[in-house]
Amino acid sequence: MSDSATQDSAIDYVAEINRMRKEMNAVILAHYYQEDAIQDIADYVGDSLGLSRQAAATDAEVIVFAGVHFMAETAKILSPDKKVILPDLEAGCSLAEACPADELREFKADYPDHIVLMYVNSSAEAKAESDIIVTSANAEKILAQLPADQKIIFAPDKNLGAYIAQQCKRPMVLWPGVCEVHVQFSRQEVLALKEQYPNARIIAHPECEDHLLAIADFVGSTTALIRHVEENPATEFIVITEPGVIHEMKKRCPTKTFLEGPVDEQGECACNKCRYMRLNTMEKLYLCMKNGEPEITVPEDIRLRALKPIEKMLEMS
Ligand code: 13P
Ligand code: SF4
Repeated sequence: MSDSATQDSAIDYVAEINRMRKEMNAVILAHYYQEDAIQDIADYVGDSLGLSRQAAATDAEVIVFAGVHFMAETAKILSPDKKVILPDLEAGCSLAEACPADELREFKADYPDHIVLMYVNSSAEAKAESDIIVTSANAEKILAQLPADQKIIFAPDKNLGAYIAQQCKRPMVLWPGVCEVHVQFSRQEVLALKEQYPNARIIAHPECEDHLLAIADFVGSTTALIRHVEENPATEFIVITEPGVIHEMKKRCPTKTFLEGPVDEQGECACNKCRYMRLNTMEKLYLCMKNGEPEITVPEDIRLRALKPIEKMLEMS
């Protein structure tokens, strides 16, 4: 894994980031798909749900968000008085891009008696059009609390939506978005790897396609996958998600073996790394703290509308 902390530079990023964190009264929140050095310097590393909770609870003045745009935006919605900065503004998400708010408004008009369950991987504008936000960690729990006759649109990840619909035995209208990283994994290559490591457990993120989830021994959010490798007695795991998560798995279970999920070599991207998450580097983390930008802003009317379904999620999870 390339590690920007080791890039040839006269600047000691670790020392400078630590110094500025104190001076600015900043908290560094990082997602598990960030490069190792960023995870190591963060105050908190977590999945989308954990990061939202941290953003809501922090008393720091500045939130430095080492993740993608929708995560930093969620932090700003929850903590409007804090300054939220993101190392690279281009750090987007294929799911958030797949669901523009104007298209969602038109779609909703065709389903007037449905509520919108919106995956957190979405823009503030799309959240503002929604009823309840979910993450991969709490989607099933929240769906299970809704009245049995409540009709539901799930957006924007059709794979996560289909998975939780099947788990909860509840049909939902699915928006046709996908995560461009999780659809790269190859069932054939995973099964070939399993033949080489017959004792390995296959663990997968629910953004994967159903034919991959069907061969997984365990499905969960990044935090749930980490917890699973710690708690399960198996010593080998085939990890079907962005491989950044393996850094924390190795820290917690140094004697266990973690195999990166193989992708379809013929695929368009043929890579299991998230090109958005990986835009963030130690150099950009240092620069965003030094310059106090790029800063995340959300228009107040949208923020207030997006806050309601996020708060509902926090209450229900
Ligand atoms: P988690 O909430 O499981 O960390 O997932 C976020 C994400 O973007 C997965 O691709
Ligand atoms: Fe979005 Fe997929 Fe990257 Fe997660 S891994 S941020 S869902 S593109």
